[in-house]
Amino acid sequence: MAGEPVNVNEFQELAREALPKMYYDFYAGGAEDQYTLKDNVEAFKRITIRPRILVDVSRIGMSTTVLGYNISAPIMIAPTGLHKLAHPEGEAATARAAAASKTIMILSTGSSCTMEEVASSCNAVRFFQLYVYKRRDIAAALVHRAEKNGHKALVLTVDAPRLGRREADIKNKMMVPGLKNLEGLLSIEVDSRFKPRSFFSKATMDASLCWKDVEWLRSLTNMPILIKGILTREDAIKAAEIGVAGIVVSNHGARQLDYSPATITVLEEVVHAVGGKIPVLFDGGVRRGTDVFKALALGAQAVLIGRPVVFGLAAKGEHGVKRVIQMLKDELELAMALSGCPSVKDITRSHVRTERERLL
Ligand code: FNR
Repeated sequence: MAGEPVNVNEFQELAREALPKMYYDFYAGGAEDQYTLKDNVEAFKRITIRPRILVDVSRIGMSTTVLGYNISAPIMIAPTGLHKLAHPEGEAATARAAAASKTIMILSTGSSCTMEEVASSCNAVRFFQLYVYKRRDIAAALVHRAEKNGHKALVLTVDAPRLGRREADIKNKMMVPGLKNLEGLLSIEVDSRFKPRSFFSKATMDASLCWKDVEWLRSLTNMPILIKGILTREDAIKAAEIGVAGIVVSNHGARQLDYSPATITVLEEVVHAVGGKIPVLFDGGVRRGTDVFKALALGAQAVLIGRPVVFGLAAKGEHGVKRVIQMLKDELELAMALSGCPSVKDITRSHVRTERERLL
């Protein structure tokens, strides 16, 4: 691609050029027919914005808080694994970019830097994303380490009792280097040629994880717990009832269940079900500042970005991640100005028209 990228999608092109095909496919791909992968992005395009005019937008304030932590804009870093496949500095570089951007990074269990390395490399506010293994002692050890290393919240991913079928990875015979947080912990199941399928194998993952286990997790830690991977009102109600600190509407970037709904199409259902009792975060397909605007209008407190971060990292390291976040912030600021919303609180439901409303 000629010249500097001017939007987040162009970073994807740069990442495609920079990475071996196997790694690019690992980051970019989704499950099976990749119907949901496409729809996560396309569904945003079916929502239009209803701008208001003659509002004083000479100053735009994008800052907000998540679980009491102030961030410069409602854009956070989603947990994604294996950043060293994108860049030799891995998650340490991503975390420095998060700190420089004044946002929160959610570190994946499957990171390629240890959580200790990430913690010592920056002063970003970090949450820790947890996968629960059959050997519950491993989850407990990870939780204790996460707390000790200054993570401010635990994000329990609940949409991966088994690994989704990502056909590009199968074709490419994708091999994954050691997962640093698990070194020494999973030694029984893992050999040096660790494949993603063993990280997520039926033998390793705890597919029996249930609502009651959230109570068990709570008994392990003082960190607030968020549940990531909610797509229905039924589950949103349960999450609010058991009193978790928040939820993330997510379909895992369309890498798990294909034909699960595009996340932006179910956000409002979840927000209504929760009724303001707990904060609702959102991810899936956010590629433009207008996407962030739409998610906020439909009730999200903030969005998480997954692939854009790894593409930025692959293309230009820490600088690339900062640029990706800055581009989304600049676009959001402009969208707010052009829609008559001087602050994030001014973005309301009446600022968007969904596809359903357009068809009525
Ligand atoms: C992910 N995601 C993810 N989620 C999680 O809870 N734990 C993880 O380790 C990972 N790993 C991971 C790796 C890669 C390469 C991708 C693309 C995604 C899902 C991630 O947190 C988030 O839900 C999606 O990436 C959001 O969608 P977008 O922004 O990628 O469209």
